[in-house]
Amino acid sequence: MSRLDQFILRLEMQRTLLDHACALLNELGEAMPGPVIELGLGNGRTFDHMRAKLPGRRIVAFGRELHANPKSLPPPGDFILGDIRSTGPAFAEEHGPIAALLHADLGNGVPADDRVLEVWLPGIVHSLLRPGGQALCSTRLVHERLRPLAFPSRSPKYEYYYYEAI
Ligand SMILES: C[S@@+](CC[C@H](N)C(=O)[O-])C[C@H]1O[C@@H](n2cnc3c(N)ncnc32)[C@H](O)[C@@H]1O
Repeated sequence: MSRLDQFILRLEMQRTLLDHACALLNELGEAMPGPVIELGLGNGRTFDHMRAKLPGRRIVAFGRELHANPKSLPPPGDFILGDIRSTGPAFAEEHGPIAALLHADLGNGVPADDRVLEVWLPGIVHSLLRPGGQALCSTRLVHERLRPLAFPSRSPKYEYYYYEAI
């Protein structure tokens, strides 16, 4: 499979899972309060998608630089600039585990870099999520308080990860 094929599958997987998680969150409504957290704003495509699917829900985005498409910029105050290894724990320290949904897309397609992410990311994701909150991630998260969830039946065959905080 070419890298283009893989890229297309990856985006289809992101859309399938984000649609599923957002629909669940919309059903829960006030029963699952709190913002959505996007770790790795990048171009802003997945941020923009969640914004469209979750009207009225605050989305706080993190990234080491702000270079998103101008159509996909978070409002002032909802972008946390810096390395998530520092800004994630600082945000959790200030606000506690408040996120109803978290999407983390920090990978660059290099397996060795994913292995590094797998070391520091699970604890940060868990510290940001409220109990029952959903996490979607391009990297495997092994954490005793993150329970793997089943994918929707129509999911493309692409490696992505879906958890619930317990
Ligand atoms: C694959 S892109 C995200 C793409 C985004 N989901 C989209 O749809 O446009 C990953 C982003 O995460 C950022 N990133 C990776 N590791 C980071 C870290 N430790 N701290 C902050 N940002 C990071 C990268 O700079 C890049 O902008």
